[in-house]
Amino acid sequence: MMPRKLLYRTTGLDLDSASVERAVRGRMGALGLKTRRDYLARLSGAELQELIEHVVVPESWMFRDSEAFNAVAAFVRRRLAERPERAPRILSLPCAGGEEPYSVAMALRDAGIAPGACRIEGMDISAAAIARARAARYTRNAFRSQHLGFRDRHFKAEGQEYVLNPDIRAMVQFSQANLFELDLAANAGRYDVLLCRNLLIYFDDATTTRAIGALRTLLADDGILFAGYAEVPAYARRGFMSLALPGAFALQKQAASAAGVAPRRSTPPSWRHDRPVQRPSGRALQRPGTDKLLSLAQFQANSGDFPAATRSCQALLAADPACAGAYFVLGMVSECQGDSEAALRNWRRCLYLQPDHYEALCSLALLAEQSGDGVRARSFRARAARVFDDRMSVAA
Ligand SMILES: C[S@@+](CC[C@H](N)C(=O)[O-])C[C@H]1O[C@@H](n2cnc3c(N)ncnc32)[C@H](O)[C@@H]1O
Repeated sequence: MMPRKLLYRTTGLDLDSASVERAVRGRMGALGLKTRRDYLARLSGAELQELIEHVVVPESWMFRDSEAFNAVAAFVRRRLAERPERAPRILSLPCAGGEEPYSVAMALRDAGIAPGACRIEGMDISAAAIARARAARYTRNAFRSQHLGFRDRHFKAEGQEYVLNPDIRAMVQFSQANLFELDLAANAGRYDVLLCRNLLIYFDDATTTRAIGALRTLLADDGILFAGYAEVPAYARRGFMSLALPGAFALQKQAASAAGVAPRRSTPPSWRHDRPVQRPSGRALQRPGTDKLLSLAQFQANSGDFPAATRSCQALLAADPACAGAYFVLGMVSECQGDSEAALRNWRRCLYLQPDHYEALCSLALLAEQSGDGVRARSFRARAARVFDDRMSVAA
């Protein structure tokens, strides 16, 4: 089987040919193989895992989209009050280098929750990422959030690195695992809290459906799931309900009503605009007043107040017709209201004004998937990945 297809079958990743070719050439070089045929003959078992290591993006940082961690702590605290006899189970999948589950552990400790009160697991398909997670040593790349008080509380500086304190490390168990190879029957309803963030963005529509089906099985009926901001609509279309927790991108199963968190009136995705490294290009640089109004528009949209969000965006565009962010928010409002045509128009305008608008690229990829245009979806995803890589190299 061709490497791209094999990777797709195994991991679900819908990769562009160029990325796969780069990885294959890299592995052929490392093994000293001259022909592709020789490489294909070896491509199974350990070598397939090596190739997977070359194509995954195990990029993460501490307290990425920090509202999610406040929401996890609040949820766990309430669960413990309701059912003190049962330790809530939390799974971060994919956990990359451990940044996400360790952030959960720190948030719980900082909320006064005893270390043994719940069980936190981290899983990822990448063996290298799991090894990094277990080592729990991080460079400044892992600390991109605005507030770094947690670093002083829970890490010890050692040269250029920060080493996580043993009490937090002991709270998380890691294992290497492929979402599509988990024993779902044995683990049905096992987790009260699931964090599956920034994975579906790499999947096509069919794989997204499979992934959400698996996650649905793993999640307890009254459990809570945290998604990446651009992934919320994919869940909302597949039996999940977005919760009114601004900036947390939290959902619950549609049939569930006992989680004790108010569901939204409709199923709008919630999102924030505080992406990790804001590096708006050329025309898209915002003035301070524009920034404030844009944040307000995002807040209004996030709270489900679409007319107010639309008015704010119109005011932004009246003052600055080249405000890419306003078109992005208008696109999200249109999508939430079920008007995909208008969403498409607004996100295209956003990209025209700011070709490296990461959120618009991800949203357009999901929209293309939805309309069955896999080629276009892959192309938007590849562009988003390039923007992401550029931002990471600027941040490093
Ligand atoms: C961008 S990271 C997301 C990490 C973290 N959840 C976050 O949002 O910061 C994506 C991770 O997905 C993992 N991954 C890709 N396919 C997977 C699969 N089928 N099962 C489990 N993990 C997978 C990759 O190894 C990578 O570490």
